[in-house]
Amino acid sequence: MSNSDLIQQFQLIFNTNAMPRMFFAPGRINLIGEHTDYNGGHVLPASISFGTYALTQPRDDERVSFYSLNFPQTGIIECELSDLTYNPLHDWANYPKGMIKYMRESGMDIKTGMNILFFGTIPNGAGLSSSASIEMVTGVLLEGSYNLAINRRQMILLGQKVENEYIGVNSGIMDQFAIGKGKKDHAILLNCQTLEYQYAPIQLEKYVILIINTNKQRTLMNSQYNTRRAQCEQALTDLQAFLPIQSLGELTIEQFEQHKHFIKDEINLKRAKHAVYENERTLKALHQLQQGKLDAFGRLMNESHLSLQQDYEVTGLELDTIVQAAWEQTGVIGARMTGAGFGGCAIAIVEKDMVESFMENVNKTYTKAVGYEASFYKATIADGAREIMDGVV
Ligand code: GLA
Repeated sequence: MSNSDLIQQFQLIFNTNAMPRMFFAPGRINLIGEHTDYNGGHVLPASISFGTYALTQPRDDERVSFYSLNFPQTGIIECELSDLTYNPLHDWANYPKGMIKYMRESGMDIKTGMNILFFGTIPNGAGLSSSASIEMVTGVLLEGSYNLAINRRQMILLGQKVENEYIGVNSGIMDQFAIGKGKKDHAILLNCQTLEYQYAPIQLEKYVILIINTNKQRTLMNSQYNTRRAQCEQALTDLQAFLPIQSLGELTIEQFEQHKHFIKDEINLKRAKHAVYENERTLKALHQLQQGKLDAFGRLMNESHLSLQQDYEVTGLELDTIVQAAWEQTGVIGARMTGAGFGGCAIAIVEKDMVESFMENVNKTYTKAVGYEASFYKATIADGAREIMDGVV
């Protein structure tokens, strides 16, 4: 959909001739560092060109009207600034509502209502952070429309608060951070304990990053996500009786191996093992990327998948079939699930010339095993959340 199509839709739906402002927040992939963010470890995500567009115009009254071109069946969803409490009937609109509520509660001067039209190009429930994307696009549109003095870090933390306290998913900081701070052609190495970060250029030369969607949708609310987090917290509590640590991310592999017998439950021990090893793998992977050693980077991606399969147990038939099939193709240097898991997407680094045969072969194997097809998209690493003036990218 083009810029002018979106403007036309806005004017039609909200019955106005006014020219709306237009904002965009991307989705993200995570190259490596999975389920490490809420364990105080490192992640290496990148924002992508798929994302959420939001067109908006302040109103004279205190009403907020939301409409999504992706969910026309829910129609216009409305609320008043004076009542921004979570409402199950408001469905997807709870994400922007939560953001408006928390921005206001943190002292931002949002005194009038607004009309907002959303249009998302991220497949929903695919693990590419459509929810953080709608939170962050709401953040930048409020910042722009009401001229708010909010820094990015604060906006990112409010996005996470929406997820944790308003929606009820105990997710970490990775998604909002990647989307809020994304940079074209760069991944972000983020220390999730301190929020220190650095950009790492992604120079793939003859390779591309492919996103492979299992088309198995899931929401984190109805997944085992919160359980995994609780298991890691229990493992940390067991270790804290003997070690002065605040998070699993502080442990080296050696320290973990020396002290792991203090973790009482065998399952919790496996979860903690993944968190510690994955954190070290992420730092190694950054190093390999910086040295231009893509083969070594790819091998670490593969190890990451195996750890998520065997120790963290968040992969499942769909992701395992896809990743296994990807590993077997010529011209592939690495493949793994990306995001929370339980379905959703995998990523693979594939030689440009081999992309066609890769897609055909992987899809064939996948369809045979699962009964429906996978989808493939080329990942373009693009800038983070922002106002856009010059049309739809
Ligand atoms: C989801 C969460 C993130 C992170 C990943 C797993 O995307 O929102 O905070 O925990 O899963 O790495």
